[in-house]
Amino acid sequence: MTTDDSHHDDASPDEDRRQSGGAWREPDARSGGNPVLPDGGTEAEGADEATLDPWGSSTIADYRKLFEQFGIEEFDEVLSEVPNPHYLMRRGVIFGHRDYRPVAEAMRNDDPFAALSGFMPTGDPHIGHKLVFDEIIWHQQQGGDAYALIADLEAHSARGLSWDEIDEHATNYLLSLLALGFDPDEGTLYRQSDNRAVQDLAFELGAEANFSELQAIYDFDGETDVSHMQSVVTQMADILYPQLDEPKPTVIPVGPDQDPHMRLARDLAARMRFFGVTEAFASFEADSVERTLLRQAYDAREEYAEDADRPRCGEAADWLRDHQPAPADARQSVVAKLDEAGKEPLRPRIRFLDRNATDVAFEALIEAIDGEKRVYDEHIDTFDLDHAEAEELARQVELDNGGYGFQPPSSIYHRFMTGLTGGKMSSSIPASHISLLDDPEDGYDKVKSATTGGRSTAEEQREKGGKADECPVYELYAYLLSGDDDEFAKEVYDECVGGERLCGGCKEQAAELMEQFLEDHQEKRAEWEDKLDELDIDLDSDRAPTSAD
Ligand code: TRP
Ligand code: SF4
Repeated sequence: MTTDDSHHDDASPDEDRRQSGGAWREPDARSGGNPVLPDGGTEAEGADEATLDPWGSSTIADYRKLFEQFGIEEFDEVLSEVPNPHYLMRRGVIFGHRDYRPVAEAMRNDDPFAALSGFMPTGDPHIGHKLVFDEIIWHQQQGGDAYALIADLEAHSARGLSWDEIDEHATNYLLSLLALGFDPDEGTLYRQSDNRAVQDLAFELGAEANFSELQAIYDFDGETDVSHMQSVVTQMADILYPQLDEPKPTVIPVGPDQDPHMRLARDLAARMRFFGVTEAFASFEADSVERTLLRQAYDAREEYAEDADRPRCGEAADWLRDHQPAPADARQSVVAKLDEAGKEPLRPRIRFLDRNATDVAFEALIEAIDGEKRVYDEHIDTFDLDHAEAEELARQVELDNGGYGFQPPSSIYHRFMTGLTGGKMSSSIPASHISLLDDPEDGYDKVKSATTGGRSTAEEQREKGGKADECPVYELYAYLLSGDDDEFAKEVYDECVGGERLCGGCKEQAAELMEQFLEDHQEKRAEWEDKLDELDIDLDSDRAPTSAD
C-alpha cells in the first residue's frame, strides 16, 4: 500500500490539474512586459490555495500563487536572456523557473550545460508529455547534454504498476520522444532500475535526508512504503546525474507539481558540498540577517569609528544600538556578538565553512588559499579573494579531493493543459486528452467535440468575440498546432476575440491540424520502432511479475 492510494492512480505529471487558457503573449512583451491577456487561471472555482503534490491531485487555481507561496520565479524575467527562446517560452506556456539564469548564460557562452527530465510510464504518452519532450529536445538542439529517463522504480513503488505494464509504456514514451526529434547518439536515455550510478548516488544523497524531512515535504507517514521513499532519493539522483562527470548548470523541465522535488534536490546538492562560502565581518558566526546588519555597520564606519580604517566591533555595536531600525531580535543578537568581540576589528572577509570536507580536503583548501588567511576549527577566513573566486576555489578543491562539487539544479515549469472537455485533462477520461497513440481520426473527432470559449450564438460571437483564453481549442493552437509560427497563433487569437472567427470553422481547422500531426508523428514512431534495439536502453525488465501492492 502506498500513501497516495486515495488519489486517482493513473495520473501522469501534467494531468488532472487545472489551468487557465494559454494566454497569447506579444513577442515583444518579453521583459516583464504586459501580456495581452492576464495569465492567472482565476476562473477555476473552489481553490484559493495552490497545493503541489507530486503524487496527488494538485490544484493550481492561480499560477501567481506559485510565485508568492513557493518562490518560483516568473519566466518572463529571464526570457530576454535566453538565445532564440522556444515558442513555449515566448507564449508563456513555460511560465516559471528556479535559477534558470546559469543555464541561459551557459547557452549564450557555449559552455557545457544539461537538461534532464523523467517520465513515469503509467499510461500512454499524450500531448501534455509532448511539452516536456519538446523542452528536452530544444535544450539538446541548443547544445546541451540531454537526458530522458524512465521512472520505472517510481511507477512500481508509488503507483503499483507491474513490470510488464511498465515495459510497454516505457517503449511508447521513448518512441514519441525519438519521433519528436531527440537525438539518442548525442543524448542519454536510461531507466532508473538499470542505472547503477544513479542508484549509488541515490544512496549517498539519502544519507543527507531523513524521514522527518520527507514527511514535511511529501506528507509521508508511518504507512509509507520504504520503496516509495527510495524512489524519492532516486529522483534526487536523477536530477544530479548529469553533473556526475563535472558540475554544470542543469535544467529540469517539469510541471509545477514536481517543484517539491526540485526544492529538495537543490537543498541536497548544497548539503553534499564540502565547503560553504559566505561573507563575514569578524571571527564570530552570523546568519544572513545578521550579516546584512554587519554590512550596514561596516559601510557606516566613517560615522562612528575613531579610526575609520580600523573600526572596532564594540564601536559598531554602539552604533547599531542607537541607529539601526531592524528586526529587534536580529539586532539584539548581532549587538551582543559585537560587544563580545569588543576591540576586534570589524573587517570584511570571505569565509569558507567546513561542511562535509575530509581533513585532507580541509588542509588542501588551506594550502590553496593565496594571501592573508586565518584558520579556525570549522572555518577559514580569507581577505584577498572575492566571492566568485572563493566559490571557484572551494569547488576545485572539492573536486580534487573526490567530491562532486554540484551546482544547484535549475528548473522550468510549464502550465498544465486544460482538458478538451473542460476542467481537468486526465488520462482516465479519454475524451479529455489526446494520446500520441490515438488514431489520427479519433484525434480529429476529439477536437471536433471539444469544449470552446465560444458564445451561445454566432451573432453574439460576432459582436463580443470568443473567449480564446478560456478555450481548450485555442490552447491546442498555442501549445502545439501553431508550432513555431507565432503569427499564426496570434492570428487565431485576434480573429477569435475580434469576433471574426467562429468556433465551427476554428475547430475544423484545429481538428485537421491535429489529425495531420498525429499521422506524421506516428509515421516517425514507426520508423524508430525498427531501430529500437540499436538504442542503449533495455526495454525488457527481467523482474518477477509482481505488482507493488
Ligand atoms: N516524478 C516524476 C513524475 O512524476 C518522474 C521523474 C523521475 C522525474 N525522476 C525525475 C522528473 C527527474 C524530472 C526529473 O513523472
Ligand atoms: Fe475557441 Fe476558436 Fe471558438 Fe475562439 S473561435 S472560442 S479559439 S474554438
